[in-house]
Parts: sequence; structure tokens; C-alpha cells
Amino acid sequence: MAVATLAPAVPYAQGFQTLEEETTIGALPLSGELPPWLSGSLLRTGPAKFEVGDQAYNHWFDGLTMLHRFTFGDGDVSYGNRFLRGKTWDRAQRTGKIPYPEFATDPCRSTFKRMQTLFAGPEFGDNANVNVVKLGERFLTMTESPISVQFDPETLEAAGVPFQPPGMLTTAHPHLDRATGGMLNYAAKLGPRSSYRFFHLGPDDSEPEVIAEISVKHPGYVHSFGLTEKHIVFAEFPWVVRPLDLALKGRPYAENFRWEPERGTRFFLIDRATGRASEPITTDAFFAFHHLNAYEEPDGTIVADIQVYPDASLVEDLYLDNLRAGGRVAPGELRRFRIDPHTGSVEHERLIDVPFELGRINYGHNNERPYRYAWGASAAPGGGWLDRIVKADLDQRTTITWREDGYWPGEPVFVTRPGGKAEDDGVVLSVVLDAERGGSSLLVLDAADLSELARAEVPHHIPFSFHGQFARA
Ligand SMILES: [Fe+2]
Repeated sequence: MAVATLAPAVPYAQGFQTLEEETTIGALPLSGELPPWLSGSLLRTGPAKFEVGDQAYNHWFDGLTMLHRFTFGDGDVSYGNRFLRGKTWDRAQRTGKIPYPEFATDPCRSTFKRMQTLFAGPEFGDNANVNVVKLGERFLTMTESPISVQFDPETLEAAGVPFQPPGMLTTAHPHLDRATGGMLNYAAKLGPRSSYRFFHLGPDDSEPEVIAEISVKHPGYVHSFGLTEKHIVFAEFPWVVRPLDLALKGRPYAENFRWEPERGTRFFLIDRATGRASEPITTDAFFAFHHLNAYEEPDGTIVADIQVYPDASLVEDLYLDNLRAGGRVAPGELRRFRIDPHTGSVEHERLIDVPFELGRINYGHNNERPYRYAWGASAAPGGGWLDRIVKADLDQRTTITWREDGYWPGEPVFVTRPGGKAEDDGVVLSVVLDAERGGSSLLVLDAADLSELARAEVPHHIPFSFHGQFARA
């Protein structure tokens, strides 16, 4: 008798499958006890639908945006989720087709469309599935195409486009400008003359102001940047694009970038007061999505901590086919760069000996400043999908770990205890996939020792998402 051989199931594959269901639940089943001071909402964004009609998105970054809300109060956690009903969603519903190009999916490759894009400028969708940002009193969900969407933090309903960045690409990782309460962010102006731009947007404003500009022939891919009290720390990795290729080649956006390691990585230090950019400071080639933090030492040395990879092949690893098949996922390394702005020398060292990604810090107290602790998602030493949470002590260069068989955590968001003095006084919140149950849970850990305080079960799975913010009540 022939016995069918089944491929071993990938236990976390459900995290890359569509969730159709939208729910509002007053109180999730809860184990453990929530800290009484924890009051407010964890707001997260991420891809949740990977097909439109009979078409499928290619890459984890492409899926249609869903917003999630976990609200804490009176010892309970309530939950809501809702697709971002913006123009991408509307057009997908109306046409039954993928409506706009995404990071690695391009539905419209006709020559006519390409020429139209070249002369009239591209038309962008608003599939803002990367990060949630609070700007003044407004909540935005953001991505790298230039359309952020404001939303209602209670109902998760879309509420319009709050501003237009000064370029065709931007980041979903703006920094808080402490002096104004506004945001500092990046935009790439692409064309015959391309440039990297940094802009400020006031907390109530809709008109960004360009504060610095660096011309560039072949722009690099930019996902985030670092900020010290005096400088913007901009790292240009050698994963670069010829801007005309974006318009003419007819390939999905990400496929136009080329890894050119001979260029090295170029740091630019931008003086926040004057907008003046340093000459480029070149070091070894590497790639990263996420800066963790940066600060100045008293002698002017700039310290920049970045979650790095030897090259851009991580982007390939994050195609959905590979992820669902349990394929390779490169491990991130938390690397400290020490940049001497006077001599242009750059030194670097590995800070901890375990993989580190989606790192968070006590942002309110420690961004731009010296700091000791970071929380991140991690994996087995050789790589693989994220299966644990680590707290890194960057003074001692040690880590502690939360891990449980069959659970697959996402970004750990640090929430400081009101009145807490210690840098790690608070909790971390992480949405974990419970593969066996086929549902996700919200995990509440003590930020100091990663002991579990509480866990709230959502009845369905939540596709792995990128980033979120805690909004205090
Ligand atoms: Fe990110």
C-alpha cells in the first residue's frame, strides 16, 4: 500500500495567511493579572489579506492593511480589528483585482501604464501597513509610499490623508521632534535629479517643511534613520536603484534595487539646527531596515545602534512563498557604530550574540540619548522565524529571553509605568501566534525580567504584523 508522504507542516505558516474576519470583543479571555496602571490601547498595523480575487500578493510587505486595537482598562482587555478602508481597499473590492503596485507586487505592467507613470507621476495606493504613529492628537498608519492614512483609534475607521511628504518614497519610522511635538521624517525625491530629503511636520500641520537635502544619483533603499539630540544619522546602504528603472523596467518596485557592495555604506550626519549634511562617511557594506537608537558622546562621537544584515538578501527571504514554506530567514545582528565626525572614522562592534529585530526602547526617555535596554524579537542563533523575545542589556552585553514552544511572537512594545524611574520599569506587549490553538494572544510581560504577567486570547489568528504604538488613555 502506498503511503502518501506529507511535507512537514510549517508551524508558524498561519501567520502569513489571510484573516478575513473583523471583530469587536468587549473582554478577551484573560489569564494572569494586568498591572492596574496599564490603561490605554496598543494600536497595531500589518498586512492581513494576501489575495484579491484570483490574484495574490508576492511579499509579506504587500498584503492589505488591517488595524488592530487592544484596549486595557478595569482589569480587562478588549479587542477590535478592521481593514483599512482607504482607496486601495475600495478599489480592490470594486474591481476584484490588485489595484496598485506594492513593494514586490506590480499589477499594471503595460507599456501604456509605464509611460503614463513616467510623465504624469505614479499613482500611489494607501496600503499603509507598516507602522502606527501618533502626531499631535492624530493617529496615522504609515508605509513607504507617500500616503499615510489617519484613523480613529477606537473604531479603526479611516479618516483621510493628513499630509503629503515632499517626495515619492518616505519611511514609516518618523522620529518625534521633542522641541515641537511634531515629526521628523525622510522622503526621496526621484527623477532626473534625485535627492534625499528630511522634513519636519508640526503636530497639527499638513504642510511639511524640508529641513535638509542631499543630492544622489542612485538612491539607496531607506526604511528608517537615527536621531541624536543634535544630528540626524542617515545610513545609505548599497542596495540602490536607478530612478528611471522604476518607471521603465516594468518590474515590481523592490526588484529594481541592486546590491552593489563595492559602494560601502555611507553615513551622513545632518546638523538638526542648520540642516547641513556632513560629507559622506563610508564604512563596510551592510543592510538594515531598523535603526534602534543613536546618541552623542561628550567628545562629539556619534553612537548609532542598528539591526544589520550582511546584505539585502533578507528582502528575498520575506517573500510569502519562502516564509510559508519555512525557508531561510537571515538573522539580524545588533551592531553599534561609533562615528567620529572630525576624522570620519567608523568603528563597529556586535552588541549581543543573539539575533535581534523589531527592537524597541524606552523611547520617551531614551531616544536620542544614552540608554541601556532594548527589547526585540529574536530567533535561534542560526536564524529562522522569530520565536522568542529578548531583553538586551547593552551595558552588560547580556540578554534574557522569553520563549515558549509553539508560540511565535511579534514586536515587543515597551510601555513605561507612569512615574517609573528605572529605564525598564514597565511592561512589554507582544502579539504571539499560538500555532496549536490557531489563534493569537496578547502577551503582557514584565519589562524588567520578562516574566509573564498576563495573556489575553483572541479567537482567531492575527497575521504577523510589523509595528505598533501604545496610546495612553
Ligand atoms: Fe519597520
